[in-house]
Amino acid sequence: MKIYDLAGLPTGLRPQLAALGVCDNESPQDDRFLGRLRRLGYPTTDYWGVYAVEGDELLARVETLRLPFTGRTGTQPVVGVADVVTRPPGLGRGYARALLQEVHRRSRADGARWSFLWTRRSWGAHRLYESLGYQDIYSTPYALGRVPSSAARRPPGRYRLLVAGAADAGRIERILRSGTHGRLGFLPRPPAQATLRARLGGRSWKNFRILFDGRRPVGYAYLSDDKPWSLTASEVVVPSPEHRPAMLAALRSLARGRWLTFQSTSFVTDAEVDLREGGFLVSPVSHAVLMAKPLVPARSLGEDLRPLGSDPAFSNHRGDMF
Ligand SMILES: CC(C)(COP(=O)(O)OP(=O)(O)OC[C@H]1O[C@@H](n2cnc3c(N)ncnc32)[C@H](O)[C@@H]1OP(=O)(O)O)[C@@H](O)C(=O)NCCC(=O)NCCS
Repeated sequence: MKIYDLAGLPTGLRPQLAALGVCDNESPQDDRFLGRLRRLGYPTTDYWGVYAVEGDELLARVETLRLPFTGRTGTQPVVGVADVVTRPPGLGRGYARALLQEVHRRSRADGARWSFLWTRRSWGAHRLYESLGYQDIYSTPYALGRVPSSAARRPPGRYRLLVAGAADAGRIERILRSGTHGRLGFLPRPPAQATLRARLGGRSWKNFRILFDGRRPVGYAYLSDDKPWSLTASEVVVPSPEHRPAMLAALRSLARGRWLTFQSTSFVTDAEVDLREGGFLVSPVSHAVLMAKPLVPARSLGEDLRPLGSDPAFSNHRGDMF
């Protein structure tokens, strides 16, 4: 087996990157797409990822991000491992393990003390990560409730929930900055991440809603509204607690006659009391877990970031970039 990073990958193997993308249930990636991500400021490591090659076959990949992580004692760069996948012909031959070990080696050399990744408790990969020293530190909470058709058609009082457009990017960024100020986790988010995600096609402006109190923007939500039976809110940021009930009421008005679910957003824990009072079922955990691994010996590790996943100040919205 040979291990390459993106720059070192023989040109003839580049088209096979697309096949790996499809294996991982995502759209094919090619050089043009990856170049675009970089130009837009996506927070990748400079080597992007590592790839296992056998003969002329690209069989496995692991991609990486370099993200800031804010703990109780300061902010440090950490590695975010994403997109671990082995193509079926290469399964069970140690490719994923070897690539992860290579990422750990490179991350240490780059000064990172921690590596993070997202997975699901029930996936086989979870066992692989545990055997490499990763531990579960956080699970995304969710909440759901059925909204009666008789629910109010509009948000209360002076509140309005308006569809966002590209011109609202700065507004959304400001709300996010204020909503995550003083919080812990993969923060601060890289600048212009809302614009970045919209340009990459992962987000669509029409799915953002901004909550206004009169003329003042006080929160936003990112929605998936493509099912007749449910409305899902996956990133709900309302910096000031006094506006949380209004956000909830505004989303209920959109979801009239359907299920309203909150997934992968710290709004569930931040607004837990409001959600429970509103009759929502709240679950503090789901199958999705964030795992962390120290990359250096305990004496040079500094702050232990693992307990922060259960700190009420931990903030997480849609996996925070990876
Ligand atoms: C998970 C995945 C990347 C593993 O790739 P792989 O190259 O076959 O893994 P390896 O051969 O390096 O396996 C390393 C270890 O993990 C264990 N492992 C791997 N897949 C496993 C599974 N499905 N169930 C249980 N254990 C598993 C192996 O037993 C092996 O242990 P060993 O070294 O003690 O023998 C691969 O199954 C895959 O691409 N799955 C689909 C995409 C996916 O789920 N990615 C992870 C997203 S978080």
